Amino acid sequence: MIKLDITKIAPVVSAAEVKALEARVAEAQKALEEGTCPGNDFLGWLHLPTSITPEFLADVKATAAVLRGECEAVVVAGIGGSYLGAKAVIEALSNSFQWLVNDGKNPTILFAGNNIGEDYLAELTTYLRGKRFGVINISKSGTTTETALAFRLLKKQCEEQLGKETAKKVIVAITDAKRGAARTCADKEGYKSFIIPDNVGGRFSVLTPVGLLPIAVAGFDIDQLVKGAQDMEKMAAAPLAENPAAQYAATRYALYTKGKKIEILANYQPKLHFIAEWWKQLFGESEGKDGKGIYPASVDLTTDLHSMGQWIQEGERTIFETVISVETPEHKLLFPNDDENLDGLNFLAGKRVDEVNKMAELGTQLAHVDGGVPNIRIAIDRLDAYHLGQLIYFFEKACGIHCQLLGVNAFNQPGVEAYKKNMFALLGKPGYEKETEAIKARLK
Ligand code: PA5
Repeated sequence: MIKLDITKIAPVVSAAEVKALEARVAEAQKALEEGTCPGNDFLGWLHLPTSITPEFLADVKATAAVLRGECEAVVVAGIGGSYLGAKAVIEALSNSFQWLVNDGKNPTILFAGNNIGEDYLAELTTYLRGKRFGVINISKSGTTTETALAFRLLKKQCEEQLGKETAKKVIVAITDAKRGAARTCADKEGYKSFIIPDNVGGRFSVLTPVGLLPIAVAGFDIDQLVKGAQDMEKMAAAPLAENPAAQYAATRYALYTKGKKIEILANYQPKLHFIAEWWKQLFGESEGKDGKGIYPASVDLTTDLHSMGQWIQEGERTIFETVISVETPEHKLLFPNDDENLDGLNFLAGKRVDEVNKMAELGTQLAHVDGGVPNIRIAIDRLDAYHLGQLIYFFEKACGIHCQLLGVNAFNQPGVEAYKKNMFALLGKPGYEKETEAIKARLK
């Protein structure tokens, strides 16, 4: 199971101060369980893992098998909560050089619909030229500009290259049950489709088809992913003393109230980079409102010790650090001996590379603590589907609890609309005439 170590948050916060939040955490858990918290129509994630049925998983796996059988590449079109979870899990479980070592057993998984980069889309469509490719179009609304643009391009190219009948087999929609442009399109074209439950917001949706289908298409074990989440769901229902998710939430809250406004999520495995990106959306979009919220930042270590290490060690003391540590790597590699020893590193020869990494982690942790950066450590045994499932639910539950402590609605994102309104006004979207006039006057 996940091990949480909060002993190095002292002297900023003591263990007693975290324990003192017990009653407030219990209240937060009760509000989530009873659905009395703000945004209570979006609590579908809370018991999602244990409500997943074998029949549902079989349907996801059968659809994945069709895409795996038919396609050499599959493009996952989605943005924000509609792509980050899948991207995070796939990257964490894949070979670091998957592009180069792909033996043809698994389709290449590509992501689109998460930016408006003309070069990105032009290069993607060029890469796909002449290839048998499929598309998983993930959008609750179906009108998100980034995703809709990519889907228009990909649908057209897929139909042109494979013919409309085959395209029907290799385009899958994951969208609202009844509403929205993606639903209308899927029904009209006869695509296989999955539903994003109404009561699960994008950033909590990785254990719905939004995450599970792309992960299964990539060839990873979604049964184990779900099993890990189910085990953590049970553990994270316990009171503070036995509940790592609640302890993480309470610790963050205690640090925040002591002026630690920025949390830096650090990893020592490059494959975890997108887990941090997913985590940033989960926490950032859930708690950054009403002038409140911890700013979620991230670093990949030891890489970023050579760029951000100085700031973390000696910059403004408004930060705390949370390290995700993987206890056992999947491979074994020894530090080599070198006869000339020009770099002076022969004292490490014969040691596991991971032992060096772990000492870098411990040394960094102690240095940061000495520099006034409280440290939380989250350890998982291995980087596999089961432990990622645990980690996903651990963070979701902690986020839900922390938002109750902060007193914000965890499940809305009103601020996301501001850029869209301006963008549509600037682009002259029908219905935005007044906004267009106002924004043009502002830019004169
Ligand atoms: O978490 C969220 O709700 C957002 O990140 C959405 O997932 C994102 O904006 C995409 O929206 P849609 O699925 O409607 O295309």
